[in-house]
Amino acid sequence: MVIRVSSPDIQTKISFPRILLAPMQGLIDAPMRDLLTRIGGFDICVTEFIRITHTVHGKSMWLKYMPELAQNNQTQAGTAVAVQLLGSHAENMALNALKVVKLGANHIDLNFGCPAPTVNQHQGGAVLLQYPEKIEQIVATVRQSLPAEIKLSAKMRLGYEHKNLALECAYAIEQGGAGEVTVHARTKTEGYRPPAHWEWTGRIREALSIPVIANGDVFTLADYHQIREISGCTDVMLGRGAVQCPDLARQIAATNRGINLPALTWTEILPWIEDFFNGCCQLSNSHVNYPVARLKQWLGMLRLHYAEAGELFIQLRKITTIADIQKELSLLTSENGISV
Ligand SMILES: Cc1cc2nc3c(=O)[nH]c(=O)nc-3n(C[C@H](O)[C@H](O)[C@H](O)COP(=O)(O)O)c2cc1C
Repeated sequence: MVIRVSSPDIQTKISFPRILLAPMQGLIDAPMRDLLTRIGGFDICVTEFIRITHTVHGKSMWLKYMPELAQNNQTQAGTAVAVQLLGSHAENMALNALKVVKLGANHIDLNFGCPAPTVNQHQGGAVLLQYPEKIEQIVATVRQSLPAEIKLSAKMRLGYEHKNLALECAYAIEQGGAGEVTVHARTKTEGYRPPAHWEWTGRIREALSIPVIANGDVFTLADYHQIREISGCTDVMLGRGAVQCPDLARQIAATNRGINLPALTWTEILPWIEDFFNGCCQLSNSHVNYPVARLKQWLGMLRLHYAEAGELFIQLRKITTIADIQKELSLLTSENGISV
């Protein structure tokens, strides 16, 4: 992100390290992107992956995953959104990328890291990390199909079962013509088991000339400083840490500007919970299960940071109707006297 400091005679450009919100299928969807970017700190978000098989998806499919297409590729808070594609057929990836660009997208991200067995069985995601030449072909075919002003990036893990092709894969992404790459510092086999190997991200950063974004296991401010120090990367992507601690990016962005912000208290988080639930209700229209499941899923993660979220989870567990949950949440929020 660039800000301009104005004085009567000079305009100085200051660049701050970027903080990206990770793509997370089933977890960071449009209501969650909207919420987290309004709380603040993020420069870019990436949609959940959209699987590309043999067809070109229609407009409704793209809008389902990326409603921000209808708002100039931005969340309500004005944060840029990239759309992530996952697949292995280079021409179909290119045709779909072109389609979503025609619908208004200006940043395509390619997924070379998904560990899901169903995805890998169809030769998509992390399985491609065994074949750097295939990665390069996909990236190059997509790049060549797109107008030059459309950004193309990719996201990778360190490998499938081992890390010995990590540098080749990263290099394939650069050679194919991607403008930057995010590295989730684990192999597919390592799943989400700590530790994330940030030193490997550093090796990739040193080998490439495009920007490398560091990702994996940033849950606190201290983790943020450590991942930057070990990887040497300027830009960092946050995933689970941002869902568990919704103002983590805001605190990081503030410290990058020399300001220490106090963390949001549970009382301050409550209205955001109500807001998120209402956002999910709007998206799902009459489907009762979606907002209730999403709320409970989020509370389950929030309780790792706020013990009160666990209590709220128990309190809401037996309530099944949207109206009753809304009543309960709005009562809690007004009791605490805070609004978003
Ligand atoms: C539930 C879940 C869904 C995910 N979905 C995606 C996805 O759609 N695309 C992708 O590139 N990575 C996906 N990831 C990986 C994350 O983007 C990120 O790389 C990983 O969680 C490590 O970062 P973190 O430790 O900050 O969470 C997913 C991870 C989780 C846990």
